[in-house]
Amino acid sequence: MSLRRPFLYGGLKLPSNIFCAPLAGCSDFPFRQMTSAYRPGLLFCEMVKIDALIRHDPHTYRFLDYSTDMHPIGAQLCGSKSAIAARAARIVEDLGFDSIDLNCGCPVDKVVKDGSGSGLMKTPEKIGEILFAIIEAVDIPVSVKIRSGWDESQINAVDIVRIAEQAGAVAVTVHGRTRQQAYKGPADWEIIRECKRAAKEILIIGNGDVFDGDSAQRLFAATDCDGILVARGTLGQPWIVEDIYRQLSGEPHRPFTVDDLRADLVDHFHKITQYQPERQALLDMRRVGCWYLRRCVGAKGLRMQLNQATGLDEVFSLLSANDWSALSLVEKSVVAQVGE
Ligand SMILES: Cc1cc2nc3c(=O)[nH]c(=O)nc-3n(C[C@H](O)[C@H](O)[C@H](O)COP(=O)(O)O)c2cc1C
Repeated sequence: MSLRRPFLYGGLKLPSNIFCAPLAGCSDFPFRQMTSAYRPGLLFCEMVKIDALIRHDPHTYRFLDYSTDMHPIGAQLCGSKSAIAARAARIVEDLGFDSIDLNCGCPVDKVVKDGSGSGLMKTPEKIGEILFAIIEAVDIPVSVKIRSGWDESQINAVDIVRIAEQAGAVAVTVHGRTRQQAYKGPADWEIIRECKRAAKEILIIGNGDVFDGDSAQRLFAATDCDGILVARGTLGQPWIVEDIYRQLSGEPHRPFTVDDLRADLVDHFHKITQYQPERQALLDMRRVGCWYLRRCVGAKGLRMQLNQATGLDEVFSLLSANDWSALSLVEKSVVAQVGE
């Protein structure tokens, strides 16, 4: 299996089987404005805590801001209580989301502590219970995102695929790393292959280490997965989805140039300023600028200047004054340095 356009996903017809991941602290509204322009099959908001959602916490609702051109869009729930998961799922469905995913991958201590996120990998039966409660509560497709296991001695992704299938989930995204590994080391694609072999009807979405069209193609070939979810590979290169489409449909590679990168960076910065108040916008632009500029040789000076800028006008002046012709793109794929 490889590129599918369109891609049948439960009752939905998605534009493709190349998805953009939920990324806490990264896949916010301006980020999704950028990635949705390249038409991924499905695009996710950052994860939201079930408890906070049913408390109607305004900050949590803001994570779920979206515009109509971002459809198809998925929300991801994080929590471990099936009773309130159903209520949270209904809220998300009422907000107009196209699908709901259950997070069983977040490795952060304070999330895992109450048995949520990757803590659920230790209690597979609870995953089944939560999924069942959500699926009963809503009409939109429900999926789950898991890791290969809790640690090397407890690799149980295949068992969870069976549980999710029984509960009626439409897909399982398998991130080929354990909780213990967090994001370190290469992702284990073999476990994704095993999950695909164990799946009857349920779709298996492979995830881990897709940073360009070539790695996307290799992930499909190595695992026979039904779709792929691109995560860190989307940071600072929202066009990666287009690269993957080209590679998988045998079209000639269209190399992105420094000018393309500058155009997307400036566009992304404008979108941030339209969405955030000035102080937050400045902080966001430092983070986002870093993702893009790490992809350029010779951009260290600009990166440092942007980090010291104290106003939005200064940021845009720095970008216009910069000699972009002196920069070149880094040859190999770059992994953005971020932590969850
Ligand atoms: C900064 C950051 C934030 C993340 N946030 C989420 C999240 O909200 N929900 C989730 O399921 N996974 C989250 N992940 C995990 C990614 O979706 C993905 O599973 C992981 O990065 C592996 O894919 P990659 O090797 O292609 O990056 C996050 C990862 C990073 C680096």
